[in-house]
Amino acid sequence: MIITLEQFIIERQKEIPDSTGAFSQILRDIGLAAKIVSREVNKAGLVDILGITGTTNVQGEEVKKLDVYANHTFIKVLKKGGSVCAIASEEEEEIISINGPNAKYAITLDPLDGSSNIDVNVSIGTIFSIYKRVSEMGPGTEEDCLQMGLKQVAAGYVIYGSSTMLVYTTGNGVNGFTLDPSIGEFCLSHANMKIPKRGKVYSINEGNIKEYSVGVQKYVDYLHDTDKTTSRPYSARYIGSMVADFHRNLLQGGIFIYPASKKSPNGKLRLLYEANPMAFILEQAGGRASNGFEPILQIQPKELHQRVPLFMGSEEDVLMAEKFMQEYGHGF
Ligand code: AHG
Ligand code: MN
Ligand code: MN
Repeated sequence: MIITLEQFIIERQKEIPDSTGAFSQILRDIGLAAKIVSREVNKAGLVDILGITGTTNVQGEEVKKLDVYANHTFIKVLKKGGSVCAIASEEEEEIISINGPNAKYAITLDPLDGSSNIDVNVSIGTIFSIYKRVSEMGPGTEEDCLQMGLKQVAAGYVIYGSSTMLVYTTGNGVNGFTLDPSIGEFCLSHANMKIPKRGKVYSINEGNIKEYSVGVQKYVDYLHDTDKTTSRPYSARYIGSMVADFHRNLLQGGIFIYPASKKSPNGKLRLLYEANPMAFILEQAGGRASNGFEPILQIQPKELHQRVPLFMGSEEDVLMAEKFMQEYGHGF
């Protein structure tokens, strides 16, 4: 028997006493926006949507057309849904503030992750976090988005891969839905997902190894060593779309690292849009996420586009990486 995302959301809503449906509305809106973006991603090679818009985003990176499209689509759908008071997007310098009678939540968004892979037909994704608003009713504020990861009420991602999948948690396990394009519905395909306690794969941009701290270099050396009992050497897998690397590691186990480097002392990935949502999903799936020294979910964000070094995946693998980091400290 097929269970669609819509049915799943309605079933879960019944379990929440006095629910007004505002939260379920956001999840349904995300499902809808994901389908629209998925359709666009799938025809990216066919229409004149490939290529660069000629502008740069707030991070100073090139913005491709699909980034803009995904950003606009998610914002439009979420605004119309009426349940969010603030949207913080990787593609927007400031938050988008919304005033509405049912706007009880704030959302943070990486509308299109892995954008350098758009032109080469490699998996890309969307990542989101949902928080309860902390400001009084009225237009949402930056404070609504600048919450510690521990405060997330939901988080998830969409992967536009060989099939399109939506994976999310509301703090009660992780569930994955695969889009059946013939009926236009996300169908429950991966119930109660759990990450293996240890993997055999590591994902890091090893080309930059000499730029990384001694702890990271020693840990990667350790993964290269041969030791049957711990399945070493590990296999290297790095797609360059964090969502895709993450999804594989969630299903099969392993560790994903985007560390600090000499040039980027806080790494590249963003606490609000990339690290926190994935950390919440991992925690729910039995995995672990940290900056090498402290849990991601316990970092108090100070600014919207804050970056953070990231070590995440199978619990035992991340614990081992942290051991190396703590032994060698922050030194390069
Ligand atoms: P985005 O496309 O949202 O800017 O994110 C790209 C990120 C992430 O998906 C990926 O893991 C990482 O950038 C790759 O960076 P490097 O090319 O520096 O390894
Ligand atoms: Mn990203
Ligand atoms: Mn992005």
